Amino acid sequence: TTATATAVIDLDIEGPTISRHIYGHFAEHLGRCIYGGFWVGEDSPIPHEGGIRLDVVRALRALEIPNLRWPGGCFADEYHWKDGIGPRDQRPRMVNTHWGNVEENNHFGTHEFMALCELLGAEPYISGNVGSGTVQEMSEWVEYLTRDGDSPMVRLRKANGREEPWRVKFWGIGNETWGCGGNMRAEYSADLARQYATYCRDHGDNKLYRIASGANGDDYKWTETLMQQISCFGCEATPRTFFQGITVHHYTLSGPWEAKGSATVFDTDDYYRTMLSARKIDRILTGHSTVMDMYDPRRTVGLVLDEWGTWWDVEPGTNPGFLFQQNTLRDALVASTHFDIFHRHASRLYMANIAQTVNVLQAMLLTDGDALVLTPTYHVFEMNKGHQDATSLDVHLRTDDTRRLVGDAELVTLSASASVKDGTVLVSLTNLDAEKPVEVTLDLRGGSIGEPTARLLTADRLQAHNTPEASAAVAPLSFDGLKVTDPGLVLTLPPHSFLTVQAPLS
Ligand code: AHR
Repeated sequence: TTATATAVIDLDIEGPTISRHIYGHFAEHLGRCIYGGFWVGEDSPIPHEGGIRLDVVRALRALEIPNLRWPGGCFADEYHWKDGIGPRDQRPRMVNTHWGNVEENNHFGTHEFMALCELLGAEPYISGNVGSGTVQEMSEWVEYLTRDGDSPMVRLRKANGREEPWRVKFWGIGNETWGCGGNMRAEYSADLARQYATYCRDHGDNKLYRIASGANGDDYKWTETLMQQISCFGCEATPRTFFQGITVHHYTLSGPWEAKGSATVFDTDDYYRTMLSARKIDRILTGHSTVMDMYDPRRTVGLVLDEWGTWWDVEPGTNPGFLFQQNTLRDALVASTHFDIFHRHASRLYMANIAQTVNVLQAMLLTDGDALVLTPTYHVFEMNKGHQDATSLDVHLRTDDTRRLVGDAELVTLSASASVKDGTVLVSLTNLDAEKPVEVTLDLRGGSIGEPTARLLTADRLQAHNTPEASAAVAPLSFDGLKVTDPGLVLTLPPHSFLTVQAPLS
């Protein structure tokens, strides 16, 4: 049987802008994300520029990635930036105690990261060390990167070969201070965020967007504690903001933390439980936004979901501390569902960073020696890139048979969002049902469209994934099943599929 649904889209009622930064990325010194992923070193036979892998850069440029968060994660709170500058062979070494207990040679440091961002055309998002660092260390890092003229840190930067200051906007003040970043209480962490933020100065016209370490999942109390620092409740004056954004992290699992399961070997029940967990992000963002609205009704402080994505068992035979996992069609549908939810939260959600870009967790890219694989998740980012900085449009779904019970919870199996940018409408649709197709009528009101085109991402199995040998097992194809009708368009989404429709406004 085929389910039916109608998506009503008002083309002339414009919602908030979808910040391009919700399509952000994350690169930690973890497993093979930096070393082997982004960085191969200047002596590598793999094509590179100054040690940075060029196939990776090319693939990410095609996604127009807006920002890249670095150096962690948990690693950020044991990273001392001065170990990562100067001649590489003289840089001190350390042990990466969080991830695999391996030695870190610090060959990829501040200059290498900034060069990477320049190659990618992405804004840097640097996560500073609160857990084991000092206020002075963080303050000097900001000075080193962004100050012009003459000062001790500027002289050090110039001695290391960089004359001009860089522009850095996004600055993280600690990571997961409730856990690996120091096991702090919310009150203590909030005080430290105020203190560190004070000494992260705006040098010249480089204005920092300071991001305080926020809640784990649905810990709304943590958010409230942070928000109490920024303004007085009910106060009409412009809130005094020590920080401009606060974080939240949520990972998608199919069961308990202790039994995450395989990335590629799973059944339909696991799949539906995964989708329930993915959908939970809607409740989490709503909860944090509601708390933030009480203290910041003008929505000047951004919510920053700077870690999200699926977390499975590592691939058999790989280092358990390296978090290397395959990526299937299931992961792609987790991502597309997240983006629909993100678009609906555009008025508060300023940034989101999937964990992590290469070879770690829900990656865009997997490398194997000199081979590079684009994952199904990569294709969702590519197909959705037109939503970046677009004006969101409300989508109202009328549907009776796109729901199913998963345990005692209800899962809505159709997901959608839409936006308009530069006179082009982009509609994203996901059918989460593992067996049933759904016929969707796009009821477009308040305007009309020209010739539409569509692309489809699906596969015969949920477990389908890409490898160096079969690199296009899951890849977008153009879709020719669009029927132009009176209210708009009619199309049938196959089971477990993601589809985008694009059309000029006429
Ligand atoms: O992304 C992997 C880890 O997950 C990050 O280092 C940490 O912040 C989170 O717990």
